[in-house]
Amino acid sequence: MNAITSVENLALQGHDSEDHNTSSNPSLNEIIEARMSRRGIFKAAFGTAGTAVLGSVSLAACGGGDDDVPAPVAATPDPRATRLGFTAVAKNKLDTVTVAAGYTATVIYALGDPLTAATPAYKNDGTDTDFDNRAGDQHDGMEYFPLNAGGTARDVNGSERGLLVMNHEALTDQFLHAGGVTAKPRPVGESDKEIPAHGVSVVEVRKNAAGKFEYQQSSGFNRRITPSTPMLINGVARGNALMKTKYSASGNDSRGTINNCGTGYTPWGTFLTGEENWVGYFSRNAGDVAARGGDTDKGNLSLRRYGSDPRTQRVGTVSKSAADAFDSRHGWETSGTDDKYARWNISQTAADAGGDYRNELNSFGYMVEIDPYDKNAAIRKRTTLGRFAHESGVFGKVSAGKPLAVYMGDDSRGEYIYKYVSGANWSEADAAPANRITTGDKYLDSGKLYVAKFSADGTGQWIELSMANPTLAAATNYKFADNGDVAINSRLAADAVGATRMDRPEWCAVNPVNGEIYYTLTNNANRKLEPTGSDLSQQGLDAANPRSYTDAPTATTAAQNVNGHILRMRELNGEPAAAAFTWDVYLFGAQADADPSLVNLSGLSTDQDFSSPDGLWFSSKTGFCFIQTDDGAYTDVTNCMMLIGRPGQVGDGTTPTLTYTKGDGSKVDVKTRMGAKPTVDTLRRFLVGPVDCEITGCTETPDGKAIFINIQHPGETISKANVADPSKYLSHWPANAGYGAGGATTARPRSATIVITKNDGGLIGS
Ligand code: FEO
Ligand code: CA
Ligand code: CA
Repeated sequence: MNAITSVENLALQGHDSEDHNTSSNPSLNEIIEARMSRRGIFKAAFGTAGTAVLGSVSLAACGGGDDDVPAPVAATPDPRATRLGFTAVAKNKLDTVTVAAGYTATVIYALGDPLTAATPAYKNDGTDTDFDNRAGDQHDGMEYFPLNAGGTARDVNGSERGLLVMNHEALTDQFLHAGGVTAKPRPVGESDKEIPAHGVSVVEVRKNAAGKFEYQQSSGFNRRITPSTPMLINGVARGNALMKTKYSASGNDSRGTINNCGTGYTPWGTFLTGEENWVGYFSRNAGDVAARGGDTDKGNLSLRRYGSDPRTQRVGTVSKSAADAFDSRHGWETSGTDDKYARWNISQTAADAGGDYRNELNSFGYMVEIDPYDKNAAIRKRTTLGRFAHESGVFGKVSAGKPLAVYMGDDSRGEYIYKYVSGANWSEADAAPANRITTGDKYLDSGKLYVAKFSADGTGQWIELSMANPTLAAATNYKFADNGDVAINSRLAADAVGATRMDRPEWCAVNPVNGEIYYTLTNNANRKLEPTGSDLSQQGLDAANPRSYTDAPTATTAAQNVNGHILRMRELNGEPAAAAFTWDVYLFGAQADADPSLVNLSGLSTDQDFSSPDGLWFSSKTGFCFIQTDDGAYTDVTNCMMLIGRPGQVGDGTTPTLTYTKGDGSKVDVKTRMGAKPTVDTLRRFLVGPVDCEITGCTETPDGKAIFINIQHPGETISKANVADPSKYLSHWPANAGYGAGGATTARPRSATIVITKNDGGLIGS
């Protein structure tokens, strides 16, 4: 899966495995104890939930008093369907997309598909070039942007034609080249394909005469945004000293976006894309740690916290030292001295930051805003929303005259959950603005970033990350210079304020029925009942991350959170700017046959069981929750999948106690908060993907009658030696579904977008 087979490094892997948080932030149980009495009244209210009584609780605005006592308020019943209407799909390992009976799944846009009339069809044999004008690889998060019937402009009701905007997260690089990946130094021809195969696609899709969606090869809206596309640095870190590079002496500009994972859809009609595992693309020379001033240097502290430190890599079984080089995932910097290759080496080599790319890494790790309708609107990196391994960026309830909240997660083991609150209050006139991207300036450049701290009593706090927070102003482990420094080093700021280390926050989504915020916590190999004291990457158990167990039914892993869970939060009084929230766990991932007292706490049946929730999305038409998996634990039984749920609300379940046995035989209790167990009417498996894939990305037409999802990296597990032999491929999808060149039994697998419709024309899942 990567070109540098002699080097083992978590940061080189394409799949979300980094862990660089070695802060000792406590598991919060102890912190909670000190607050119990103040929360007493709220605990009583929470404990009675299970009906619609706990609609919301009284507001505590951010920066407001810490002692507000929440009071129950009735929720408004939602008229949308409360039960699912399809037959569950059985788990399977077939090399096909299996969707519920009565539905049709159709491939419409795959790796390499041409995006201009002049671009040749994809041969899919490793010889294709020009990915600036083709679909990129590893389709990921995706949003639908509706067009009017004439295809000339945005129309919020446009369900006949629209723009799909999607991320191309990473590469299944063996299949991009005829003979697989060549070792370093990387040939120019290979790097020139791999670099633009990352980024974002804007592609028009339209219903044909038969009413079926097809992508439009010649649409004037089509375009690729790649790691080379010019972009503006906007927000609090614009022009910061830490942003100055050989490319931008002002610190106001950067090039490109990479490893884009989750997405967001702004209330003014633009696209947000999250830069996730960007660190691994950049190399450092041997001696760069010393050249920058050693381990106490702020730049080195930042690089180490974000995972760019040679000591996180191994050669064989031997760990590297601080004096060694840090290797990049693809080695593009070895393709030549041209700046488009040289920028991937971030070593300090010149007299000042304007002469090299020592700060290049600081220009990645953001939410990036793109106006899909306007090729001339300069793309903005929204630095005020913080810098980390971004997944989705999802807006909370939008209300006139109130600030906007954007919810975000940092996907690495033991990382944090964040919220951004705009400084500007929402104006309804901005829902259809004359200039969408400058409307983004208004709402996304000036605001505050918060990080979440979860308490065992089912409450939690949002902690401000700015120099106005005395804890950050006084921090000594890393002395923040200004608010730009805080944003660029969000992880270090969150460490300093004692945020809760989570089980890899992946995507978030907001339930349109009640405004609650859902987060997938995909899994965590470092969650331990008894963390090793000397291994600061490990985390102990806490109420919001309460499980550590081995794989079921036979232990194939060391104890950890193997299957992940889905957490949900309700802002106090439903206010986006609230300083506090309540929470519980919507679902605990598990195999149906796993221990019901410690693992399958949600009581998942064989029609409901799943592992490693990742993509997460709600339909605004049905209020149904779509759960997608990116799993490696249950894949001995089933390919990755998508389920549909109809959740209730925070506090509708129980407060189970998990009793663990320690190594010395003593017992330890961990209490958690769990939502109502799902029933056959409220959770079912809807789809299973082809072999070795991940299911990701979900969006709908405004009428809710078509959804689009992505099948990422089918058949990705292959060595270079096997690329020449199609019989060794794990997957031939989507050619075996009748899409594209190469043959149903011989084609190279391709990431692709599918559209799903109900055969009777109804809403999906109804
Ligand atoms: Fe790109 Fe965290 O999944
Ligand atoms: Ca993933
Ligand atoms: Ca993901």
